[in-house]
Formats: sequence, C-alpha cells, structure tokens
Amino acid sequence: MDKIQSLKGMIDLIADRSNPDDFAESIFRTEDALKNIFVNFGYSEIRTPTLEDADLFKRSVGDSSDIVNKELYSFLDKNEKNITLRPENTAGVIRSVIEKKIDVNTHKFWYLGPMWRYERPQKGRYRQFNQAGIEIIGHPEGVAELEIISMICSINNALNIKNSVIKINHLGNQGTKTNYCNALLEYLKPFSSQLDQLDQSRLEKNPLRILDSQNQNTQKILKDAPTIKDFLSDESLTMLQVLKDTFSKDCSIQIDYGLVRGLDYYTGLVFEVISDELGAQDAYLGGGRYDNLSEQLGGKNIPCIGMAIGIERLALLSNIDIEDKTLVSFIILSSNFEEKAYKIAHDLRTINPEIIIDVQLAEGSLKSKLRKASKNNAKFAIIIGEEEIETNTIIIKPLVEKNSEQTVMDINEISSFFEDIT
Ligand code: HAM
Repeated sequence: MDKIQSLKGMIDLIADRSNPDDFAESIFRTEDALKNIFVNFGYSEIRTPTLEDADLFKRSVGDSSDIVNKELYSFLDKNEKNITLRPENTAGVIRSVIEKKIDVNTHKFWYLGPMWRYERPQKGRYRQFNQAGIEIIGHPEGVAELEIISMICSINNALNIKNSVIKINHLGNQGTKTNYCNALLEYLKPFSSQLDQLDQSRLEKNPLRILDSQNQNTQKILKDAPTIKDFLSDESLTMLQVLKDTFSKDCSIQIDYGLVRGLDYYTGLVFEVISDELGAQDAYLGGGRYDNLSEQLGGKNIPCIGMAIGIERLALLSNIDIEDKTLVSFIILSSNFEEKAYKIAHDLRTINPEIIIDVQLAEGSLKSKLRKASKNNAKFAIIIGEEEIETNTIIIKPLVEKNSEQTVMDINEISSFFEDIT
C-alpha cells in the first residue's frame, strides 16, 4: 500500500537529545529560552484558537497583503462557515481582548504556536511554522517602544546570536501613511509600464509595498522616490533616534526609511531583525505598532505594539548550550523484576528532582544500553540485575571519568548519595 506523506512545506520536528546540532532539539531549546525571557519581562501567556473566522484576517492583515490574497488556508466547515487557519497571531489576540473585554491597562501577553501560510517552501520558509511573540496592549507610543527593542536585544544576547541587525522605521499616523502613499503614487505613475505585474498591482492596491519589491529594475526606479523621512513629524524622527542611541551599544540597530511590512495594520514604529546567515528569508523577527487594529475589528480605541519571531529561523542562528542538568541512565537488566526496579527510579526522582533519570525502556544487552547512556552524555548509569534485586543493592557505573570503577551500593545508602548529586 502507498505510504502517506506529510504535506508539502510542513515538517515533523523529532528531537534527538544526544545531538546538540539537531534542528528539532534546537527549536525546542530556543522556545524554552524565549519563554524564560518573556516571563522575566513580566508577560502573561495567551493561547487563542488556531482556527478563526476568515473575516478576521481580511479586516486586519489587509485585503491588499500577499498573506490575505494568496497565502490563507481558508475553507468551509461543516456548517458552511468560512474559517481560516491563522497566518499570524496579532489579529487573534486583539479579537480575544475585544471579545473578553480584557482590562487593557494591565496586559502584556506572550504566545507561542503554529501559524500557516500557503507560500512556496524554501530554506526557512514553511507552510506550517512556529511563532513566538508578544503583544503590549493599551500603551501609546513611548516606553512600550523602549521595552520592545530592549527585549529584542535581550533575546539576541541570551541566544548568542551573531551578525544580526535590528532595522527600524516609523510610518507616522494614518494621515502620514496616506500622504506618503499619494506622493509615492505620483512619483511611480510615469514608470508604471516599466513595472512588473506584481508591482503594478501593488501600485493600485498599496503603493507602500512596492518599496519591498525584489525586482532590480523597480529598485532602480525607487532610488529617486520620495522617502517617508520627509513626511514624518519631529516626534517620530526623535523616537527613531532615541531608540538607536539607547540600544546601539548593546545591539546593532539601524534606521531604514525604506522598511515596510507585509501586513497592513501598522502605523508608528515598525521593525525587522535580519541576519545574512539565513539566506533569502533573512528576517527572523518582525513587528511594530498597530494603534488602529482594535477599532478596525469593532473594539474601542486601544493603542498596541507587538512583535513575532519565526522560531525555525531563530533556531538556525541560536547558540544555546544544552541544559547542563546531570543525566543518569537507569538500566534494568531483566523484565522479571521491572516493577521493583522501576520503583527505585520513581523514588530517586522524588529525592532529587533536579536530576534527569532516563530509564532505558527498550530491550537490549548491557553493552548496548551502556553505549546509549554514553551517547546521551549520562554522568553515570544505575544498573539493576537479578543479583542486585536479591541482595538489595544497585550498581553505580561512572561514565564521564574514564577508568573509574563501578561501585555496588546498598539500597539504603542510595538516598543520601542521590541527594548530594549536582
Ligand atoms: P511577520 O513579519 O509576518 O509578522 O512574521 C514574523 C516572523 O515569522 C517573520 O520574521 C519570520 O521569521 C516568521 N515567518 C513568517 N512567515 C514564515 C514562513 N512561511 N516560514 C517560516 N517562518 C515564517 C507577524 O506575523 C506579525 N503578527 C508580528 C507582529 C506582532 N506585529 C505586531 N505584533
């Protein structure tokens, strides 16, 4: 019979603890490190459904965006309702804030989970991928901007990321955006016939997106185009400079007046963090301020700012040491006395919860089990055979220091021995 394959652009993440370079292992470690940072910054977790009403994304991410036009996984459910697998999580969080009437003065949220976009798969680009993100709800422009860039620097430092650049820009308010779009449109109209099909359609729907064009000829035309810098207020320009001055000692941060984002809901600060080690899909983090989204979704006026991180991309860059908790490999030599032997492992976990006790469940020879224990970097193995069960002892075999002898220990001594292990 034919085997069933996973869907294109969707990957299984199967971790291998013994291999620090393993991709899935690195993804899970990266997620743990991010959660720690979010919690240490005082954020609370929010977990919204992965399926939402299709209109949510049309009204938030925007009809002119590639995400809504080409990339949504949308379908009718059994009740003929049009539903969508979320392509991002900002819209879902704000939907929830409005629906649950959450007290906006107190909320700083973090989240982690899968997103779906029907894109052409390539290195660092999947159809199902994971994002971790934060949304700061109810804070107008000011200290929230400092907090978000501060957190990005902390992430880069904690995960030991080299060669990354935080690019920041300001889109002003809705009025600034409209004025700049009009100026861009006026400038680009005479070149319209020289633009490719995609850029021509952007010209009609959302001229700002042309700044992001991959077409070299378009980029040449854009060299003399008006820049948003000339449309920004002094406050907005100062905000960019303050962020650069505050964090440039700690992180590489650049003002890029050409930076636009693929989602329509932004006004104010926008940013992306890129690394040239990632190849074509070089952005591993993106975000910005979206003060109008709540009203667009039928809520009251709530100023917000947030960001999301592409976990698969960040994991390729992060250099986190594997947790250095002590690992003990627990080897039971026969199924005849499994329950009695397993009870010892169970008790040891209670005595010292800081230690990893990996009970080897598979059948096999002592030699192969010891080989597996060494491969997993176990500090020592605890071996229980027939003789040990009869004499109420266990064997402790050190695995890290070469040539050190194994010892036989009375079961009554093991508690104090175990308590002292670090
Ligand atoms: P975004 O820039 O569309 O922003 O996505 C954030 C990150 O998700 C990207 O920088 C990238 O690393 C990752 N990503 C996006 N698409 C893919 C893909 N197909 N495969 C792998 N990784 C991908 C947002 O989603 C906004 N919701 C961010 C935000 C939060 N803005 C305000 N709050």
